[in-house]
Amino acid sequence: MSDKLLNIAVFISGRGSNLKALIDACKRDDFPAKIALVLSNKKDAGGLEYATDAGIATEIVDHKNFKSREDFDQGLLQALESYDIDLICLAGFMRLLTPVFINKWRNKIINIHPSLLPAYKGLNTHERVLDAGEKETGCTVHMVVPEMDSGEILVQKRVLIENNDTPESLAAKILEQEHTAYPEAVIIFAKNKHITS
Ligand code: GRF
Repeated sequence: MSDKLLNIAVFISGRGSNLKALIDACKRDDFPAKIALVLSNKKDAGGLEYATDAGIATEIVDHKNFKSREDFDQGLLQALESYDIDLICLAGFMRLLTPVFINKWRNKIINIHPSLLPAYKGLNTHERVLDAGEKETGCTVHMVVPEMDSGEILVQKRVLIENNDTPESLAAKILEQEHTAYPEAVIIFAKNKHITS
């Protein structure tokens, strides 16, 4: 790994607790990355406050201002242009990116998903996991490819399901694991990529 810190853009749509975990990780001396940009498609996303408090640049690209997904993704590409980004971390970003965007940033986008992928892609994972009577679930950080919630797995964390678990209790237990998993995935990504300075 080169000495240069990875320059990260974190994409969010809401609460931003994974963003906060990444901001905290970046304070560690041995962490291989820094956050150069937090981008949200919602101007009232709670996580934007974490960025502002940490003095990180923010960009709002509101999908409602664009006619199509393709146009929205052009807006995202433009917003990224003035930042020297090495890695995009999707952290609760609730928009599907088009293949054009993903291919442009090929092998440089990672996502966190609240299930043990490849099981339970998509939304409402905790409800579906409970309905299926699973004994365990968890979270996955993976490389982003055009097919949703697919791509090489970087980190997975497991959570045991107890009899009295609800979608809410599972979400809380998994979120705690997510906050460790995401920084670990950034470290793994940094080790495997040669970043030229
Ligand atoms: C997390 O559960 C993540 O797995 C999913 O969206 C949620 C985002 O939470 N993709 P937060 O905004 O990081 O708190």
